[in-house]
Amino acid sequence: MSDQSAPKPFSWEYRPTVLAKEAFHIAGGRPLSGSVRVSGAKNAALKMMAASVLTGETLRLENVPEILDIEVLRDTLRDLGVAVERESDGTMDLTAGDVEWLFVPLEAAAKMRASFMLLGPLLARFGRVIISNPGGDRIGRRPVNLHVDAMRALGAEIDYRDGYYFAKSSGRLRGAEITFPHVTVMGTENAMLAAVLAKGTTRIQPAAREPEVDDLITLLNAMGAQVQRTAPDVIEIQGVDALHGATHHVMPDRIEAGTFATAAAVIGGSIEITEIEPAHLGGFLQVLERMGVEHSVTGNTLRVSGLPQGEGSYKAVDITTAPYPGLATDLQPSAGLILTRASGVSNIHETIFEDRLEWLVGLRNFGAQVEILDPRHARISGPTTFTAAEADIPDLRAGATLMLAALAAPGESRIHGAHHVRRGYATIEEKFRGLGAELTHVSEEEKSPA
Ligand code: UD1
Repeated sequence: MSDQSAPKPFSWEYRPTVLAKEAFHIAGGRPLSGSVRVSGAKNAALKMMAASVLTGETLRLENVPEILDIEVLRDTLRDLGVAVERESDGTMDLTAGDVEWLFVPLEAAAKMRASFMLLGPLLARFGRVIISNPGGDRIGRRPVNLHVDAMRALGAEIDYRDGYYFAKSSGRLRGAEITFPHVTVMGTENAMLAAVLAKGTTRIQPAAREPEVDDLITLLNAMGAQVQRTAPDVIEIQGVDALHGATHHVMPDRIEAGTFATAAAVIGGSIEITEIEPAHLGGFLQVLERMGVEHSVTGNTLRVSGLPQGEGSYKAVDITTAPYPGLATDLQPSAGLILTRASGVSNIHETIFEDRLEWLVGLRNFGAQVEILDPRHARISGPTTFTAAEADIPDLRAGATLMLAALAAPGESRIHGAHHVRRGYATIEEKFRGLGAELTHVSEEEKSPA
């Protein structure tokens, strides 16, 4: 489809993502066995869906995970006028022929922060967009100031009023030097999605080194962009006049791979995790190595054998999260959970976010001995033999970790807020059942916004 095709009727309608509240019922303490395939990476697929608005031609994505965050962005794109078709085999076709509605409402942004990834590409192709601050008027702990600064560096004029960024550019954006004060993953990606259609050369430094950024670069180049990583933390972009359609296979989800490796380590048993990219898991595999968790990599398969509850322990170590290639902050809860099975005192140092240790509070319900020393440091004393419990899931990554604690604890546990886990983990119940775990979900009647 081309940019000139007939306009579609205005389609925006407010659809609250009403997530039915769910709880997991888990009969824990059964060692795992078997094989599980990792899905496509959430944090790569979301940015690629945003990249679809850079062209009027069809972008075909393969290996898109079946998760709620993808559905939220799909609905947001449809509301803008983008045609999105999804096949059951994980293929998604996106055609942004006519994006007649350059407005991303608070309802979309509040559901998922990654909606802000539409700022760069809409501005670059259409020269204007009104987009909600993902935190509304709250300038919270996860600001977007660096995204906005990057757009301004590219020549955009951006005003902020009543929780909305009003962004416009007279003519094309202009290539620029974008210097971030520290590494930002989505900031780097948003800047790239704007600079590909800018006039001239853009240089981003320090550019995030996460593999999802490189997968996005591969996609953009397949669409006709000229993007190159010229040094480990430098990305250079020669702007082009227009981009075209392409087909791209989304990389495997390294966070999901780490979560299943953690499952084997804390629940016990032996599993193989297939279709992974071992190079992406370096920082996490080093933690397994240092702790003495048995594992091996053959091709694209990771095998992990863990000690069942009460049968031995691992070595206590200190872990520190860091930008890639260090230990991913998204795997900090996983690595932290394995620390509870270690003999002695371990420490967690979270360097990326200041609100990422709260999940440890729920872990105490299962018997873990945890001290949160300050918002970035925690101390864990072990080894813990988990006991069945009831707990509330506060968010996505914490949720997956509490779920693993319940799967490890002999007896019946109930975890409230299971729907948070579905935001980021594809068919997670089926995958765990395939490994011999016993769990079901039940509806918890009440409805609540995501
Ligand atoms: C992405 C990932 C998230 C991961 C994180 C760090 C997606 C959808 N999310 O989030 O899963 O945990 O990278 O690897 O890909 N910051 C600012 N101003 C900004 C932007 C960020 O101050 O404009 C700060 C953040 O508060 C944080 C740090 O920069 O302290 C790094 O965050 P960033 O790399 O931007 O994380 P995200 O891209 O939001």
